[in-house]
Parts: sequence; C-alpha cells; structure tokens
Amino acid sequence: MSGSLIVVGTGIRAGHLSQEAISAVRTADAVAYCIAEPLTRLLVDELRKEAAKPVAEDLHRFYADGKPRTQTYHQMVARILELVRLDLQVAAVFYGHPGVFAYPSHESIRQARAEGYPAEMLPGISAVDCLFADLGVDPATAGCQMLEATDFLLRRRHLDTACGVVLWQIGCVGHGDYQGSGYDLRYIPMLVEALLAFYPPEHEVVVYQAAHFAMCDPIVECVAIAEMLKASITAVSTLYIPPLLVPAIDSQVLKKFDIATFRGTEG
Ligand SMILES: C[S@@+](CC[C@H](N)C(=O)[O-])C[C@H]1O[C@@H](n2cnc3c(N)ncnc32)[C@H](O)[C@@H]1O
Repeated sequence: MSGSLIVVGTGIRAGHLSQEAISAVRTADAVAYCIAEPLTRLLVDELRKEAAKPVAEDLHRFYADGKPRTQTYHQMVARILELVRLDLQVAAVFYGHPGVFAYPSHESIRQARAEGYPAEMLPGISAVDCLFADLGVDPATAGCQMLEATDFLLRRRHLDTACGVVLWQIGCVGHGDYQGSGYDLRYIPMLVEALLAFYPPEHEVVVYQAAHFAMCDPIVECVAIAEMLKASITAVSTLYIPPLLVPAIDSQVLKKFDIATFRGTEG
C-alpha cells in the first residue's frame, strides 16, 4: 500500500498559496481540487504542467443545482479515496483553509487513516484570517465565537455577546442544496429575528467578503442588524458581529497574577 493523502489549502486568492502547498501540488501523483477562484485553479494547472504531471481533476463537477451539498461532499470523499487506493500520492486541494468549515477534507483524512494510508493536512489562509486583517479585529481583545449560520438557528445556539461573533455561510442559511447562481435569502429574516434575541436592532454588524483577487478591495458593508437584508449577501458572505460589552476584569483574580494590568492582547 503506497498510497497517501495530503489535503492542501490554497487560501482565498492566488497569492495565498504557500510554498509547502505549491510543493505538494507539484509532487503529487494525482491532484483533485475544489477551488472557487479561477486564477488559483489556473495556477494549480500551471504547476502541474511545469512539473510534467497529469492534469488535476476538478471535484466541482459533483455539484449540481438543487442537489444536496452533503451528497456532493460524499462523492468528493469517495473520489479522493478511490485515487488513494490506486496507490497514488494524492493531493486534495481546497480553497481557504482546508480544515475550516470544510467537511470533505476532514472526512477524506479520517477515512484514509482508517484504511491505513498516511494522511495529513496543510493549513491555508481562511476567509476568517482575511476578515481579521481587513476589519482590524484581533480575537485576543474580546474573544471570538464562530458558528455556521444554519447550525446556529437549528440548534438554537447561545451567542456570547461579549465576544466578537463570526457567522459563516449566511448566504445559504436554511438551504441544504447547491445553487450555482446564488441562494434566495428567504431565511435571512429568521436569522435576523434570532440575532435580535441577543442584540439591539441598531447594533451594527459587518457583511464581509474578502477580495478574491490581488489589487481588489474587500466588500465591507456595515448595517444595523435589523437592516441586514439591505446588504448584498452572497454565497461567500461572512457576518461579523462586534462585541456589545466586554466584561470588566475581576480585580480579585488580577491581584493573584503577577501583572499590573491586562488588556487581553498581551498574549
Ligand atoms: C464551505 S465554507 C469554506 C470556508 C473556507 N474553507 C475557508 O477557510 O475560508 C464557505 C463559507 O466561507 C466563507 N467565505 C468563503 N469565501 C469567502 C470570502 N471571499 N469572503 C468572506 N467569507 C468567505 C463564507 O461564510 C462561505 O459561506
């Protein structure tokens, strides 16, 4: 059994591809990718060509309008494992960080290891890394809670309003299928209603989209929660909710530490 799996993240735009990701793409016997952004796809294709390796295959072919996304994810995993079982060194390439809000990458590694194949993941630059950079948010200052939007509603999860909150996949909230041309936003009012249980309607949130191309600006729309539908929400929008009120430091606890002040950012 000489097959192996390396799961690679490409980041959000082409310039995010790390040296170790480039090396993995060049050296693998087979590459299967699911990359939304066209320049990065071209770059991966070019890397394969330069290395005189077989062309990469596109896992995006498993998506279809109206098809449940979970079915597509299982097909991606099945195809990746099929390649590994052919005793190939396989690189499975996903955009962003391949382990952040990405089921097929974790599941491929789990299954490959269960079958005795070596499998590892290389981190990539995630949308949330871009958000921290573009919005000037340091999660050390107030903490940061991250949730998937549909999961937040389904499980009636609690929000810690003293933290910054990142809500992923707001653009497809309530939808389990794939829609290539974008999702209808009929469940956003439900999301707004759920958020209003925690925040006042005028609390300002950011509907955020990291730039997919160098030299382009991110899309940063600040709106009151109650007016979220006024923002242009797409399938790649992420919601950032700034903290309401950061709790005061407990002076009794502080006294026990050997520090005069603590702002939460000192590391
Ligand atoms: C399936 S997850 C993939 C996340 C990806 N693995 C990452 O590390 O960023 C898709 C969600 O990521 C977020 N996302 C993807 N691209 C984005 C972008 N350019 N700007 C902001 N958020 C983005 C959105 O919340 C989107 O619904």
